[in-house]
Amino acid sequence: SRVIVEKPFGHDLESARALNRTLHAVFPEDAVFRIDHYLGKDSVQNVLFFRFANTFLEPVWNRNYVESVQITMAEEFGIAGRGAFYDETGCIRDVIQNHLLQVVGLLAMEAPNVNRVESIRDELLKVFHAVRRPDPADLVRGQFRGYRDETGVKPDSQVETFAAVRLFIDSWRWEGVPFLIRAGKRLALTATEAVVKFRRPPIFRMPHADRNYLRFRLGPDLSIAIGARVKSPGKGLTKPVELSAVRQQTGDEVSAYERLIGDALQGDPLLFTRADAVESLWAIADPLVAAGTPVIEYEPGSWGPADANRLAA
Ligand code: BG6
Repeated sequence: SRVIVEKPFGHDLESARALNRTLHAVFPEDAVFRIDHYLGKDSVQNVLFFRFANTFLEPVWNRNYVESVQITMAEEFGIAGRGAFYDETGCIRDVIQNHLLQVVGLLAMEAPNVNRVESIRDELLKVFHAVRRPDPADLVRGQFRGYRDETGVKPDSQVETFAAVRLFIDSWRWEGVPFLIRAGKRLALTATEAVVKFRRPPIFRMPHADRNYLRFRLGPDLSIAIGARVKSPGKGLTKPVELSAVRQQTGDEVSAYERLIGDALQGDPLLFTRADAVESLWAIADPLVAAGTPVIEYEPGSWGPADANRLAA
């Protein structure tokens, strides 16, 4: 028999360990299928496929060419009637500990060994282990104005509905490259994307010019695009263009769940979070939650507290 477990897989490292022990008292790990629906999304799997099904990325996919990686999960809607749940959870636990750190893993991992099914999950785990304990100064927490009036939310709640954090991965490939994650409710629009920004070229170093980048749009639609510059007509220098590799409407969340439940029934473990990964993800998230960073109020419909821009600067 198999057991399907839906996130959250615990509330912190300690409770995650207790949950894993309980599960393992009855089921061996290979019978446990932990669903993080993000991994069931085509757009998220495409990070892995686009990286490793193409040759041209690998030579530049490292600290020598990449200046920063930015992952944004903006949601225009609020807590959608889930006040009691959300007020015990907050943004870091709700989407960073799982969905967005999995995206970091897929962006940062080494190529898997295709002869071993477990290799992908092993490589993801190595990334999670290599994430440096974050500096509290690299975290900004926000709460949208009006959150405390929501049903189920404490009137003096200090829970964040927005978080921005700068992480570093201590590995040969990523040393010194900031991974900026920001996520929030009641922001200006709904869009999730990961942008890998490349360093400036040694000439044409216009101070305000966009650099080359690779953009993975993860939701609600799916696209992969490369930011480049071409000569402007006439006497101008260069202007930005975007080369589009794929652009399509993704299936919604239901199809991610359909995919995952189907995989679980067939016993295919690839897209499920292993016990060791759950624990290492909590080991990253726990210090963020415990940092006691004050929550800054932000206007609904904005991009969150202005202080978060400091991290990206
Ligand atoms: C869920 C979170 O896991 O993911 C929600 O609990 C969040 O707060 C949702 O809105 C986002 O997923 P998707 O697939 O709608 O982008």
